[in-house]
Amino acid sequence: MAVHQNRNNNNIIDNYERMKGIVLHGGTGTRLRPLTYSDVKQLLTIAGKPTSEYGFLQMNEIGIKDVCIVIGKIGGEEVKQYYGNGSKWNSAVEYVFQEKPLGIAHAISLCKDNTGDDDFVVYLGDNVIQEKLVESYEKFQKEKYDAFLLLVQVKDPSRYGVAEVDGNIITNLREKPKESKSNLAVTGIYFLRKPIYQYIEKLVPSKRGEYEIMEALQAMINDGKRIGYKIIKGWFKDTGTVEDFIDCNMLVLESIKENEKSENLNIKGTVKMGSNVALDENTKILGPCYIGNNVKITDSFIGPYTSIGDGCVIKGIDIENSIVMENCRIEFQDGRIIYESIIGPSCSIKSGKSKTRRTKLVLGRDSKVEL
Ligand code: G1P
Repeated sequence: MAVHQNRNNNNIIDNYERMKGIVLHGGTGTRLRPLTYSDVKQLLTIAGKPTSEYGFLQMNEIGIKDVCIVIGKIGGEEVKQYYGNGSKWNSAVEYVFQEKPLGIAHAISLCKDNTGDDDFVVYLGDNVIQEKLVESYEKFQKEKYDAFLLLVQVKDPSRYGVAEVDGNIITNLREKPKESKSNLAVTGIYFLRKPIYQYIEKLVPSKRGEYEIMEALQAMINDGKRIGYKIIKGWFKDTGTVEDFIDCNMLVLESIKENEKSENLNIKGTVKMGSNVALDENTKILGPCYIGNNVKITDSFIGPYTSIGDGCVIKGIDIENSIVMENCRIEFQDGRIIYESIIGPSCSIKSGKSKTRRTKLVLGRDSKVEL
């Protein structure tokens, strides 16, 4: 096995058997409504990228070029449109349709023909983690585990799959236990091999009506299989709620290293900026921020911790700790503040009669609001 770095400082693994990838785009995203009435949650953007693309790129970095994307009834066509045949990422993408949201294990089982005899990584499209996959990948292959999970220490394990460990091995896995001795949550990134399919086939739906991957993995443990793990060091976010989505935006922006070398004294801190951005002299930007392509901003204060998507027009507003997705128009005359908000794609927000200065909004695609 050899790990070397390419020109972008990405680790590429040469000599292992080829691995494949699965990225899940199913589920109903109820906790992110109204955004998810019109958009599939894993395509909602943070710093100009769908959350699922962060995982997709991470798999790409460890040399995974064959990816199977599981789509559901909501937004499946949009997912196909976005990832296409994968050539934009130098990958080959295939799609599998999950008719009903019957759980992670069920979604994985639909990819059996696509992964064939190969080992594979499953990435939940709403999970974003800071840590690269290369070390986990090496451990999984070198130490020949039957499966390998990325774990993270959390304060509220009852929201997640929870792992108990002994030495290098996971000894117990449970999905959202009410109480647990362990504070190790299972992130939505699983390194698996072909035999997992036999265990998934034997599952019955859980109380929440899903085929649980935790139960399939626990059955492997009961059979004496070895499940390895790595406790990740950086941050992890499941972007399933509004609060977590806003937090994730903050963490992603904090990790942006690029510093826009601007002559503009009104830009401070780390700001990643696209092309054709027009800022007038009355506009200040305080990083960390992301500003997409073809954006026009006048008389405004943007940041810190704000993502502005492509094609937005923004006038007369302070926006802090928020995500404004692509093609929004936000125009005020009287100096308002938008904070801790998620504004879905193609929204229009403008001055109305309200006297409220500070506003917190969660708006789905195409919303029209006067404040
Ligand atoms: C799912 C998994 C859970 C895992 C979590 C990570 O939970 O079932 O084991 O810890 O993703 O984000 P869900 O998003 O279905 O609540």
